[in-house]
Amino acid sequence: MRNKTKWGMLFCAAGLSVLALTGCGSAEQKQIVRIGHNQSTNHPTHIALEAFSEFINEELGDTYEVQVYPSELLGSQTDMVQLTQTGAIDFCVASNAILETFGKNYEIFNLPYLFASADAYHAAMDDPEVTDPIFGSTEKAGFTAVTWLDAGTRNFYTVDKPINSPADLKGLKIRVQQSPTNIRMMDLLGGSATPMGFGEVYTSLQSNIIDGAENNEMALTDNGHGDVCKYYSYDMHQMVPDILIGNIAFIEDLTEEERAVFEEGYKLVNTVQREEWVKAVEAAKEKAQNEQGVTFIYPDQAPFVEACAPLHESVLSGNEALVPIYDKIQEYNEKYPSVAE
Ligand code: GCU
Repeated sequence: MRNKTKWGMLFCAAGLSVLALTGCGSAEQKQIVRIGHNQSTNHPTHIALEAFSEFINEELGDTYEVQVYPSELLGSQTDMVQLTQTGAIDFCVASNAILETFGKNYEIFNLPYLFASADAYHAAMDDPEVTDPIFGSTEKAGFTAVTWLDAGTRNFYTVDKPINSPADLKGLKIRVQQSPTNIRMMDLLGGSATPMGFGEVYTSLQSNIIDGAENNEMALTDNGHGDVCKYYSYDMHQMVPDILIGNIAFIEDLTEEERAVFEEGYKLVNTVQREEWVKAVEAAKEKAQNEQGVTFIYPDQAPFVEACAPLHESVLSGNEALVPIYDKIQEYNEKYPSVAE
């Protein structure tokens, strides 16, 4: 379904080099600002980036032209982060999970059951005291985070086995994102972690290379996983944000005025994406249930939470700089406890 990636990337890479060499294209003197992401053009992330593109083109259209490349056209998220690091492209959206391998501080938002509720998650992610030490931590690696995007709650789903407790994961090969924290989480829960890029998941499910995966509801519909997986279990193990990152040299080269406009644009991405997200998830649930025949399961979360608990301790003791951030998140958890409590 999505296996055009490698070729797409080669063609795009060739295209990017030609553009770079000729310095032209239809936009003549304009500097092309390239943004890559791995979602479809229906997805809230794409809609938000299109709004960003329109905004920048309106405000700074004499100097810049923003182009958005969806659907892994520029490669997997890991590829796109590398392209952003080197400045081959200017921005991309990457899951926080992927960023952990580029900057250790990102580990914190990959912790299972870190946030007590969606409200606690949103409030923490909107607080610069929480995000600044993480977002600014990769400048030496060539990029910085400019805003976060909602990617909902991650839950397990399988081809044909309902997951009611961690015991049900035993012996199942479950795709996880390529992040050490996710692999450790899967080990603690008793399943067999199979890390791979997002674009490979559909075919792997279809060909029984894996028994299931874990993601938000949009993966069922927008990525077709619900055509193959018939059980979706709300264990709610993670709220992993997506992050819009930008090449540091590009950002630093902007004039003060331009930078202010881009910053307005990042805020716009965040606002539009979050508004669209709420609608998109509702529509995805309905479609998965009514059109794809996916059964939603609501297991007791307590055994999942308990199994994952040691991960908090090990991540914090491995990176003490995260402790004050973790404590700040606990304040939001107290303020916005889970509705189920
Ligand atoms: C979500 C998330 C993506 C991520 C994907 C995955 O769709 O928004 O950024 O790539 O999950 O599981 O890889």
